[in-house]
Formats: sequence, structure tokens, C-alpha cells
Amino acid sequence: MSLSSSFLSGMNVVVTGASDGIGAAIAVELARSGVESLILVGRDADRLKAVAAACAVQCRCVTADLATQAGVDHLIHELDGEVVDGLVNNAGVGLGGLFEELPIATQDRMIYLNIQALTQLSHAALEPMLRRNRGFILFVGSMIGFVGGPGMSVYSGTKGFVNRFAESLRWEISGSKVRVVLLAPGVTSTSFFKSAGIAETNIRAGQMTAEEVSKAAIQGLLANRPTIIPGLRNKILLFGMRWAPRWVVGWVSRRIFAGIASRSSNSSN
Ligand SMILES: NC(=O)c1ccc[n+]([C@@H]2O[C@H](COP(=O)([O-])OP(=O)(O)OC[C@H]3O[C@@H](n4cnc5c(N)ncnc54)[C@H](OP(=O)(O)O)[C@@H]3O)[C@@H](O)[C@H]2O)c1
Repeated sequence: MSLSSSFLSGMNVVVTGASDGIGAAIAVELARSGVESLILVGRDADRLKAVAAACAVQCRCVTADLATQAGVDHLIHELDGEVVDGLVNNAGVGLGGLFEELPIATQDRMIYLNIQALTQLSHAALEPMLRRNRGFILFVGSMIGFVGGPGMSVYSGTKGFVNRFAESLRWEISGSKVRVVLLAPGVTSTSFFKSAGIAETNIRAGQMTAEEVSKAAIQGLLANRPTIIPGLRNKILLFGMRWAPRWVVGWVSRRIFAGIASRSSNSSN
């Protein structure tokens, strides 16, 4: 069951990473919640079309590799002439493994997608929203961006950027009616871990579904919550992490991520 909302009513919303996982679920949830049209972005045209078919509103699919400047430019060009009322900055990838062993080019691509593309798209979308005094940007950060995760060090850094950027931008535009909202999911059952090269056996926390996360996201957006943490378990975990000394957070994090960050010739610290 979804709420049709006057806030989303008539909006044209761009969702990046809409072909799968959390992005696809958010697109479906937005369609149920009153948006007029969606622009679905990803690299896989067929999967985008399948998501469009599941959304009962007008959809336009744009293929773009947002880990490249050419892909970001292509999307911004495609959006020229569109009135973008909402932007869901969801496209993102992870990488599991030891920082010094993972190819730097692969890590650069992840940084580009998770940070550069998201920053440039937000920059292109925000000014017209502020002029119209209407719209929203929903950032998909992560719990790991608050906590940090060995074996996912650069990914954690990119999500730390998203979490802080979203919060700061919200404060920066607080005089306007444009909403900036951060969604920070915990472990969610999608293709994310497989794509990141992380085995299922290394994912210990209780997983939520993409549908549960997307419902929490749209409810949080409609309530204009600064930060949306889906699931009670994640809320409790984050509360504990915020009050615990950092060395305790580090101790817990090293145990949670031990399987990903294992080193054959390990040191004890
Ligand atoms: N799953 C989790 O546990 C979890 C937890 C916290 C935060 N998150 C965040 O949630 C977001 C969505 O992740 P997910 O779990 O839904 O993963 P997912 O199922 O793997 O989906 C990732 C989406 O990003 C798109 N994408 C990947 N590389 C891209 C590129 N170079 N250019 C354009 N689009 C690209 C993919 O589409 P194409 O393959 O068609 O390009 C896909 O639609 C990410 O930002 C992730 O960091 C996930």
C-alpha cells in the first residue's frame, strides 16, 4: 500500500541506477505515490524498460555510464529541456577487498560514479529547483558512511561524502521549499554485494528488501526527514555507533567486515 501525495503530484523525477535494486524499487514506489513521469537512468536498456513497464506512469529511459564524464555529460544533455522536479541520486557501486590490492582504476571508477556523477547531477538539477522553489533531491548514501568498513575503505569514504554532502546541502538551502533528504540504508538484498565481489557468507547483518527500503525512503521524503535510516535494527545500530567511542566502533566494524578485510599475513591490530 502506498500513499498518493500532493508533494509528489505532477512531478517529473529522475532516478539514477533505476534498472535494478533500490533504484528500481524507488521508481515503482514513486509511480505509486503520485509522480506524473519518471526518467529512468542506467546502463542496461532492457532492464530499464522492464522497470518502466512496472511503473504505472509515463517513463523515459536514458542509458548512460555515469562512471564516465562522457556518460554524465550525455545525461545532462538529455535532461536539457526537461523540467526536473526531483532527482534520486541512487546509482552507486561497491568494491570489497584490500585497498592496496584492488586495482586503482576500478576504485577510480567507483569514486567517479559514487561522488563525481552525483555531485554534477545535483549541481545541474538544484538551481532550476531553487528558482521554482519546488522539488527534491534524494541522496542514497549508506550506514557504512557513518561507521566505516575495513575491506570497503574507499566505498565507505564515498558514502561518507554522500552522507555529509546531503546533510550540508540541506542546511545550505533550508530557506527554500526544495527538499534535500538522505537515505542511508543498511545491508539490503540486491545485486550490490555480488557486483562488489563480496561473498554472501560475509554479509552478517539482517538484510532488508529493496521494497522495504524504498517504502521507507518515500515515506521519509514525504515527511521531509533529514535522514532516513530504514529498519529498527539499523536505527539502533546507528544510535549505538554515534554514542560509542571510535575505538569501540572500529573494534565492532573490524569484526563485522573481517571476512572481506582478511589478510593472509595478518597483524593483530
Ligand atoms: N545493497 C545494499 O546493501 C546497500 C546499502 C547501502 C547503500 N546502498 C546504495 O544503494 C544504491 C543502489 O544500490 P543497490 O543495492 O540497489 O545495487 P544494485 O542492485 O547493484 O543496483 C545498482 C544500480 O546502479 C546502476 N549502475 C551501476 N553502475 C552504473 C554506472 N556506471 N552508470 C550508471 N548506472 C550504474 C545499475 O544499473 P546498470 O547496471 O543498468 O548500469 C543499477 O541500476 C547504491 O548507491 C549503493 O551504494 C546499497
